[in-house]
Amino acid sequence: MKFTSFFTLVGAAISTSAAFVHPGLLHTAADLTRVADHVNAGDEPWLTGWNKLINSTYAQSSYTPHPVQLLCRGSPASCSENYANIYRDAAAAYALAIRWKVTGDAAFGTAAANILNGWSSTLTEISGNSDKYLASGLYGYQLGNAAEILRNFSGFTDANMQAMIELLVNVFYPMNHRFFVDHNDAAVDHYWANWDLCNLATMMSTGVLSDNQTMFNEALDYFYNGAGNGAINKTIWILYDDGTGQVQESGRDQGHTMLDIALLGVIAQTAYNQGTNLFAYEDYRILRGAEYAAKYNLGNDVQFTTYTNSDVTQTVISNNSRGNIRPIWDLIYNHYVKIEKQTATYSQQYADLVRNDGGGADGGGGYYGTTSGGFDQLGYTTLMFTL
Ligand SMILES: *[C@@H]1O[C@H](CO)[C@@H](O)[C@H](O)[C@H]1NC(C)=O
Ligand SMILES: *[C@@H]1O[C@H](CO)[C@@H](O)[C@H](O)[C@H]1NC(C)=O
Ligand SMILES: *[C@@H]1O[C@H](CO)[C@@H](O)[C@H](O)[C@H]1NC(C)=O
Ligand SMILES: *[C@@H]1O[C@H](CO)[C@@H](O)[C@H](O)[C@H]1NC(C)=O
Ligand SMILES: *[C@@H]1O[C@H](CO)[C@@H](O)[C@H](O)[C@H]1NC(C)=O
Repeated sequence: MKFTSFFTLVGAAISTSAAFVHPGLLHTAADLTRVADHVNAGDEPWLTGWNKLINSTYAQSSYTPHPVQLLCRGSPASCSENYANIYRDAAAAYALAIRWKVTGDAAFGTAAANILNGWSSTLTEISGNSDKYLASGLYGYQLGNAAEILRNFSGFTDANMQAMIELLVNVFYPMNHRFFVDHNDAAVDHYWANWDLCNLATMMSTGVLSDNQTMFNEALDYFYNGAGNGAINKTIWILYDDGTGQVQESGRDQGHTMLDIALLGVIAQTAYNQGTNLFAYEDYRILRGAEYAAKYNLGNDVQFTTYTNSDVTQTVISNNSRGNIRPIWDLIYNHYVKIEKQTATYSQQYADLVRNDGGGADGGGGYYGTTSGGFDQLGYTTLMFTL
């Protein structure tokens, strides 16, 4: 008996402490080395992706952050909207962190650190109307990814990292959690999938950054079994014989359908880097959704099953924003084709399309317009995910 409990304790300690890989959100150390090596060797398509990044106004060491104490998204609300501040700054922090990592030039690391330190020392509350839950979802994982790349920069101290973790744990995570529990007091199927998915991405990222297995598992459990539309069987809710799967927002518009794929990519990549393969989960279910979205947006017909929830009945797929361009596809394409060895006919074509749209590589925040949609995802997937 004595020995049994001794070994049980040892087992528990190992499984909870040594669990997380760092850096290990969107990019591992090996990924970051691969990117730097290809850029420094002048290899394509990395070089084109890199030139897009260094040409961006969001990747300059002179970038000035604009942190706020009360972050406001949604109107009308008691506060006045200022969320462009955080999506611009998060895009800049990520681009500058990559620029530091590839060049080793501390000026870029310092600029990225200043952005993160500005937010971690200033932001205390996220408010607005219901859209505040988009802010708690979309921007937490983005700041977190910049911090994770900077983890190993001498100008971003342990105390700086701890402050960023505390911002995510104390301001973002409670909203992620609350949204999963009560969905802002709406019917559980009211909010479109991207609302759950962005909060899931931030919760999962915060779990990794803070080495909290409980939090990471809460996000994973929601992906598998959640009650709302961000659970995988509800986001990609019906499968077809051609290998595609209808996406929950397909009858709404294609921009949000593409956002669902973007966020599933973030969630699956983050989990993959921590040893859990959601890309392959349920017979490559995420790929089926990506293939469906890409197939339709390329101009092909797709099967459509009437979608019904508490609010809407949609009998046809929406052609609103068909052909929507988001910098997300080289994550999907490279993983499924080169790692999982799957056929990804339409995702591959869409990756080609978005790469060609950018002259050989996709861009990042700021390259796809000034409004929030161009900043919903971090982008630069050709540079960061080409294998
Ligand atoms: C660099 O950015 C400017 C706008 O800031 C744009 O006009 C130009 O095409 C970009 N060059 C490349 C190589 O992306
Ligand atoms: C930190 O980054 C440098 C290069 O930027 C690398 O040589 C070093 O191995 C990294 N250390 C860790 C612990 O990742
Ligand atoms: C980990 O996160 C959970 C919420 O998921 C929280 O209750 C717990 O206190 C956290 N653990 C630590 C050590 O911070
Ligand atoms: C999700 O759907 C698959 C079939 O497509 C099924 O095998 C699985 O049990 C479902 N999972 C949940 C949690 O409902
Ligand atoms: C878009 O969809 C609407 C409604 O289904 C349809 O009436 C319209 O013809 C479609 N437009 C195009 C360009 O396909």
